[in-house]
Amino acid sequence: MNEIQSDALVLFGATGDLAHKKIFPAVYALFRRGLLDMPIIGVAGSDWSEAQFQQRALSSIQQYGIGFDRQVFARMATRLHYVRGNYRELATFTGLRETLNGAQHPLHYLAIPPSLFATVVQNLGASGCATGARVVLEKPFGRDLNSALELNAVLGGVFAEESIFRIDHYLGKESVLNLLYFRFTNSFLEPIWNRNYIERVQITMAEDFGVQGRGRFYEEVGALRDVVQNHLLQVVAHIAMEPPAGKGAEPLRDERSKVLRALRPLNADHVIRGQYKGYREVEGVAADSQVETFVAVELYLDSWRWQGVPFYIRAGKCLPVTATEVVVELKAPPQRVFDYIEDDRPNYFRFRLGPDQVSIAIGARAKAAGERMRGEEVELFVCNSHGDEMLAYERLLGDAMKGDSTLFSRRDGIESAWRVVDPVLNLDKPVHEYDPGSWGPTIADPFLPLPARWHNPKPKNEECS
Ligand code: BG6
Repeated sequence: MNEIQSDALVLFGATGDLAHKKIFPAVYALFRRGLLDMPIIGVAGSDWSEAQFQQRALSSIQQYGIGFDRQVFARMATRLHYVRGNYRELATFTGLRETLNGAQHPLHYLAIPPSLFATVVQNLGASGCATGARVVLEKPFGRDLNSALELNAVLGGVFAEESIFRIDHYLGKESVLNLLYFRFTNSFLEPIWNRNYIERVQITMAEDFGVQGRGRFYEEVGALRDVVQNHLLQVVAHIAMEPPAGKGAEPLRDERSKVLRALRPLNADHVIRGQYKGYREVEGVAADSQVETFVAVELYLDSWRWQGVPFYIRAGKCLPVTATEVVVELKAPPQRVFDYIEDDRPNYFRFRLGPDQVSIAIGARAKAAGERMRGEEVELFVCNSHGDEMLAYERLLGDAMKGDSTLFSRRDGIESAWRVVDPVLNLDKPVHEYDPGSWGPTIADPFLPLPARWHNPKPKNEECS
């Protein structure tokens, strides 16, 4: 880790939605903790005055931040500056250089459309703004393996790998970090955390809302690119990785990357795509769009620990609840000593990764009271209720400012993740329609071989009450 603290924050896309919803609240939280007392420079194309920019930051923090303090904001406002300009013109970057006013180690945060990443990176290099600097890139990082390789090549020509921070906010989530913590601090898991005891792993990322005015963006990505290639493969990495061989960023990143490298590329038979009814009416969406708002995939890992264990991943918009859950199902006992009914659920570990609730449950069977040796399912359950998304951005931005890349995707990891989804990005199969509020197209129900079935996350009010 390069321990030099950044001495200015430059936010490209400062007038955009992401800055408004996530980045300003994170900046404010860091400022309040005394970790960001430095120039904060917004860059964007809008013809705004500095006062308008400050006003935008204020409304963002009041709307999306946690705990607003007027005096803290008044101090922060004196640090906010605005540079208006076209990202394609070098003059914008020479203007930025002046506004940086001699800062030696700025952090450039690119919250802009991915199609502009390469242009901005090249102009940062050409203007001298990249010297001694770091860069943070928002997802999606490329749109397929080739574009990711090209982008990595452009980045590598301007910044050293240790100065590049590819954000996947799932890596900064408390609940995702807890997967690691839970696995590597509890000795009871290790003996069974392998192909000998685990039957399958299911991951569901359900959202009970649609694309929310992001039709144009979503048309370019679809569920596979939007959340599977990045967030959910990172979750797989945390479930499947080996313990890191040492402390610090690189041993951990090595293990995450090894999992991604060991994942078999998907093939069309292992993918089901759906689209909720009404998606085509969203502004910016084509009337005959074949973009998936739901996807289910079956994945395999070629490794000693996981050979033959299927990982079923499902993600969708307009499903019945908003929740991300991992369920690790264990194999049935070797002998049926007592009556066993067909649809008995196996023992399992269930990790609810948010957004509002973080919980861990262990599903087991116990004898139901009565004469017969029949069982019932019981859950040992621990719940920790809190939203953590804003904290994810705060944590990641703070880490990038101090040069800690532990929770960021490395070049090889990103490329491996694209290699997994690349063969099925442009499938010629039509999407299956589904009703908003359902669990996706019915064709996805029998995706898991019987007697297995999808585990549907419970609604929020039934999870932690
Ligand atoms: C984003 C996707 O990366 O993650 C969105 O673009 C999705 O479509 C969001 O809704 C989900 O993040 P979280 O933290 O709410 O689970």
